[in-house]
Amino acid sequence: MIGTEKTVNMKLGKKEVKGFATVSGICTTTADVIRLWAKKIPQLGIITTKSIGKDPKEGNVEPIICQVSKRSFRNAVGLANPGCEAFAEELKEIYPLPNGKFLLTSIFGKTAEELQYVAKVLAPYSDGLELNFSCPHAESGYGSSIGSSKELTYKFTKAVKDVVNIPVVVKLTPNVDNIGEIAKAAESAGADAISAINTYKPEEFIDPYTKKVTLLAVLAVKI
Ligand SMILES: Cc1cc2nc3c(=O)[nH]c(=O)nc-3n(C[C@H](O)[C@H](O)[C@H](O)COP(=O)(O)O)c2cc1C
Repeated sequence: MIGTEKTVNMKLGKKEVKGFATVSGICTTTADVIRLWAKKIPQLGIITTKSIGKDPKEGNVEPIICQVSKRSFRNAVGLANPGCEAFAEELKEIYPLPNGKFLLTSIFGKTAEELQYVAKVLAPYSDGLELNFSCPHAESGYGSSIGSSKELTYKFTKAVKDVVNIPVVVKLTPNVDNIGEIAKAAESAGADAISAINTYKPEEFIDPYTKKVTLLAVLAVKI
């Protein structure tokens, strides 16, 4: 959520960014919460939105979060979001953010063209875009996810850089053996920064009472 390991002190595009960053999908998921946190939390530098795609998406059927031990949770939200056009309407109401906070809008798309479309719709109301390449909905024929392939990471990053003039941050998946090479592919496609990391590998959660699988989840939060 917000932790010392997410502290940033850098120039991103035209803005000096200082302070903590919220991560995508947790707390700062709606416009009213984003505005409230921007107003009330001076230590925040970057506020990241929930990942947004082209069309509205319901996400997985509940349960989407489970607690498997006192100190860890699993999640399987499934990229629930209202779609880029509806989210642009929300952002219009709050952009630019109070106190000069940096609004990093997280986006995803299953093809480079779709990602470009989402980028173009949301860029006017964002200080930067974060590309979520860890969703398992990459172009058909290319395997599980964009972020597992150097070629796709390059192609999708470049596609976005070609159509926007704001900083582009590429969020990496840890579920690869060559994360350094993937980061370099993002950099050579023009990424302005890297965000590390997205959630750790999928895992089945077996309900201790029914002994059935209740959640095919990803390890996300350790407290
Ligand atoms: C409930 C929940 C929803 C999330 N939704 C998104 C999302 O929409 N997009 C994304 O890129 N990451 C999403 N994440 C991943 C987090 O942004 C973050 O990368 C992950 O929790 C690892 O960071 P941590 O080690 O600080 O927990 C989500 C995580 C959780 C727990």
